[in-house]
Amino acid sequence: MTEFSVLPPEELQAIKTGLLKRYTAICDRELSLDITRGKPSPEQLDLSAGLLETVDARDYTSSAGTDCRNYGGLDGLPEVRQLFAEYMGVRPEEIIIGGNSSLNLMYDTFLRAMVHGLGASHTPWCREPQLKFICPSPGYDRHFAICEQLGIEMIPVDMTDDGPDMDAVESLAAADEAIKGIWCVPLYSNPTGAIYSDDTVDRLARMTTRAADFRIFWDNAYAVHYLGERPGRVRSILEACKAAGCPERPFLFGSTSKITFPGAGLAMIAGSATNMEWVRSHLFFQTIGPDKLNQLRHVRFLKNMDGILAHMEKHAAVIRPRFQVVEDVLNTELAGKGIAAWTRPEGGYFVSFDAPDGCARTVVKMAADAGVKLTPAGATYPLRNDPCDSNIRIAPTFASIEDVRTAVEVLAICTQIAAIDQLGAV
Ligand SMILES: Cc1ncc(COP(=O)(O)O)c(C=O)c1O
Repeated sequence: MTEFSVLPPEELQAIKTGLLKRYTAICDRELSLDITRGKPSPEQLDLSAGLLETVDARDYTSSAGTDCRNYGGLDGLPEVRQLFAEYMGVRPEEIIIGGNSSLNLMYDTFLRAMVHGLGASHTPWCREPQLKFICPSPGYDRHFAICEQLGIEMIPVDMTDDGPDMDAVESLAAADEAIKGIWCVPLYSNPTGAIYSDDTVDRLARMTTRAADFRIFWDNAYAVHYLGERPGRVRSILEACKAAGCPERPFLFGSTSKITFPGAGLAMIAGSATNMEWVRSHLFFQTIGPDKLNQLRHVRFLKNMDGILAHMEKHAAVIRPRFQVVEDVLNTELAGKGIAAWTRPEGGYFVSFDAPDGCARTVVKMAADAGVKLTPAGATYPLRNDPCDSNIRIAPTFASIEDVRTAVEVLAICTQIAAIDQLGAV
């Protein structure tokens, strides 16, 4: 395949004519496809159907004899803390099992830092003259939305295959007292699928931060969500921070949203015992206790780490073919043309696609006109501002395999048309 940029204008014009024919034929089909959000497919939800049968009207008592229907147990059932401590790579006293959403726990953590401060020796963030957060980009739009809503200035830093550009992160954190933290999705990053290297973890733990209350928001949303042979591995940020003498630096988050049921799963926050005490001291005013029946369902259904991994293998079997279709279509349509790049993740929920600079908005609009909803251009950057206007997040898990194939084909056709237009051969 020859790169578009070296083709003569007549040849490009002929290619464009063919592409427009395909585009018009697709528009005529009046499609209504959506590959915008990372949701499990109904087939994946069915994998956890048995969860709903693990607790019933006669069987609602935890292994320690707790009646899970009643109030109490602010930080979670001991057997659930035990299981998810192993899942998150921390000790049982370093984890709290919360409600149904890790995003909710992240938001609460921000609000507590804003209103109360991170412990007695730190000023509440809302009293600081300026607040800034480091945002590796492309990243997760809902992380950025929390900062945006709370008026925290976001500083984008490039993502590499090993995690954020650490030279940039280190110099920012060391220089500016207003920088209070960084967002991280360490394993199968949203959307690029990057896996943080050991060196990245160590540098995050060891770096000098001008703000004494600098926090790493370590969103381990995809800890066991692998597509390959076995789960990826990331060095423990908590252990690295302990070794570096700053055990309070990381807050770890996770959930079973994409293991069991998003919206009806379990969420967790983890970190040093001191940080967990800080969380508990605020949680006490927020709730009398979590939904222990759901905790009991989960621990009975998943049983142990082997149970979680065996369950995730079933998820992988369902979603692998969808990721394969994305790769196949992009490869067939775009490889060698020098107009697009995309990731081949080993896990997680997304493929990160880069159209030619300046084309993402056009591509998303053209696809929408053809009945294919793509994640809005810019969504993966703070304030929806992708400086290159090139990144588009593909979420292939929810739609059927055939719908994913069609949607990605439309994306590829629109990308080629936009690229040719940009080369000036209209
Ligand atoms: C990186 C990341 N964190 C958190 C979430 C949401 O997690 P939860 O359902 O636990 O709120 C998502 C969902 O897509 C995600 O991609």
